[in-house]
Amino acid sequence: MRELTKEQKAELEEIYQHYLNDEKIKRMSDIQMHRGSSCYIHSFRVAKLCVKKAARRKRYSMQNLKDLLTAAILHDYYLYDWRAHHELKKKHGRRHPLVACSNAIRDFNISKEVQDIIKSHMWPLTIHLYPKTKEAKLVNRMDNHIATREALTFRAFKRRKHEKYMEMISHLFDE
Ligand SMILES: [Fe+2]
Ligand SMILES: [Fe+2]
Repeated sequence: MRELTKEQKAELEEIYQHYLNDEKIKRMSDIQMHRGSSCYIHSFRVAKLCVKKAARRKRYSMQNLKDLLTAAILHDYYLYDWRAHHELKKKHGRRHPLVACSNAIRDFNISKEVQDIIKSHMWPLTIHLYPKTKEAKLVNRMDNHIATREALTFRAFKRRKHEKYMEMISHLFDE
């Protein structure tokens, strides 16, 4: 077990807030997913959970944590509503990690490490894109975990709860 220093937390929080308030990222609020949750809320929930898990473990360097955070925020940055496009429905599961990755390269100039985490987040559906690093494995697992919870508790995502979830994702570290 380890505890991040104040400075380390501040550094990660700054990255988180930068994305949270980015106008391009905010477009994910319009993308519905998992019965009522938005892509925006979903992505920041996954990011928070990943960092919470990894921050306690010494084997995650600060660079690993930064990659993890960035990739988790951008893992579903595909920016289209697959429900509105009949032809995309079937392909969405396999296709969207690659779309999210190329959008993220275009808009945020992300590293190779971050790209690999995004591309493998849907494994085993994307059979050839196996999560190789511990960061990629964690995003893959936590995305599944949050998506399942959202699907099971979809009533909680009705509009009146929206504020609560926006509050929940408003900071990386709850203090
Ligand atoms: Fe996804
Ligand atoms: Fe996701």
